[in-house]
Amino acid sequence: MHLTKKLLMLGSGELGKEVIIEAQRLGVETIAVDRYADAPAMQVAHRSYVIDMLDRAAVREIVEREKPDLIVPEIEAIATAELVKLEEEGFRVIPTARAAQLTMDREGIRRLASEKLGLPTADYRFADDFESFGQAAREMGFPCVVKPLMSSSGKGQSVCKSEDDLDRCWQIAMEGGRVQQTRVIVEQFIRFESEITLLTVRSVSGTAFCAPIGHIQQDGDYIESWQPHEMSEAQLEEAKRIAKAITDELGGAGIFGVELFLAKDRVYFSEVSPRPHDTGLVTLVSQDLSEFALHARAILGYPIPEINVVSPGASRPLKATSELKDYRIDGVEDALAVPKTQVRVFGKPVTKVGRRMAVTLTAAATVEQARVLAKEALDKLSIRGE
Ligand SMILES: Nc1ncnc2c1ncn2[C@@H]1O[C@H](COP(=O)(O)OP(=O)(O)O)[C@@H](O)[C@H]1O
Ligand SMILES: [Mg+2]
Repeated sequence: MHLTKKLLMLGSGELGKEVIIEAQRLGVETIAVDRYADAPAMQVAHRSYVIDMLDRAAVREIVEREKPDLIVPEIEAIATAELVKLEEEGFRVIPTARAAQLTMDREGIRRLASEKLGLPTADYRFADDFESFGQAAREMGFPCVVKPLMSSSGKGQSVCKSEDDLDRCWQIAMEGGRVQQTRVIVEQFIRFESEITLLTVRSVSGTAFCAPIGHIQQDGDYIESWQPHEMSEAQLEEAKRIAKAITDELGGAGIFGVELFLAKDRVYFSEVSPRPHDTGLVTLVSQDLSEFALHARAILGYPIPEINVVSPGASRPLKATSELKDYRIDGVEDALAVPKTQVRVFGKPVTKVGRRMAVTLTAAATVEQARVLAKEALDKLSIRGE
């Protein structure tokens, strides 16, 4: 068979793995790249490479060798400046090289959303050293939220409670960033009632929204998500307005995870991922087309006539609590005995503290039921060192 297109995935985690499976189902040749061997998406791709994706020359070399039709970033930590050049030379970056570049850095996307588009966000300041950080925190008031400009999954993030807390928070931010950089963002702490991801997909069929996904974060990383999240018609309209504005601005084709905080009388834009979102794993059981299927369709230029929630659903990630070189996941049998429940084991080669290793997914008659069952299944799973 002649495969129609060649897709190069930069980042090969569990989200990329599902996108690769969906692309293969549509007859696409797939290549997975990451900085470590045997990453989840590599286990299903046609070929794979291990490179330092922050190294511009290394990214270029793979792209020139493979000449893919589509370059698909799966994570933020990529040499996006090189993607910009490659795009100028005619390569196609999903959704666009500019979107990848702007969203890799909290300053780029925050200034775009707030200062250019006028979208409601938490108030914020940037600081480059400890002294200006202290001043920024005082201006925001306590508590405030401190984050390195480049980080994900809550790394380097903390809530600064008072003047006495400044030292501790600065230290956390300095140690948790992805790159050696002292610049931080200090945000007003939003006392939201709930937070959601509004999956928004741009395709040849136009812009479409998935039903809102509610989630709970602990230490900046998601521990539970569900769909649909109950919200008022007015709140949903405002959420869609914000998501449309930011995704129109970023452009290109593909799915975007628009993160929003819902307060009593306001919806705040928080951040956006120009790719599938971890909280969207729930769509594997709750939608007819998962966020991964939607991404694959959109980037390949295929239509998305409609998106349907087929059942309320919930997801619960299994996170490692220690570092293990050799491990196994116990309890899959018991987890699968929970009604309406599925398990995805990601197959990551080693565990690290806080690393997501598997997920339970439950579709049930109500969101409440799905949440209870997904938790019940999660409690059956455990990670054991060999
Ligand atoms: N300004 C804020 N006020 C209150 N909570 C926040 C604020 N910023 C972040 N959070 C909490 O921390 C989580 C992670 O923050 P986020 O900016 O999304 O970082 P990451 O890029 O690591 O996902 C959010 O989902 C939210 O729960
Ligand atoms: Mg986030």
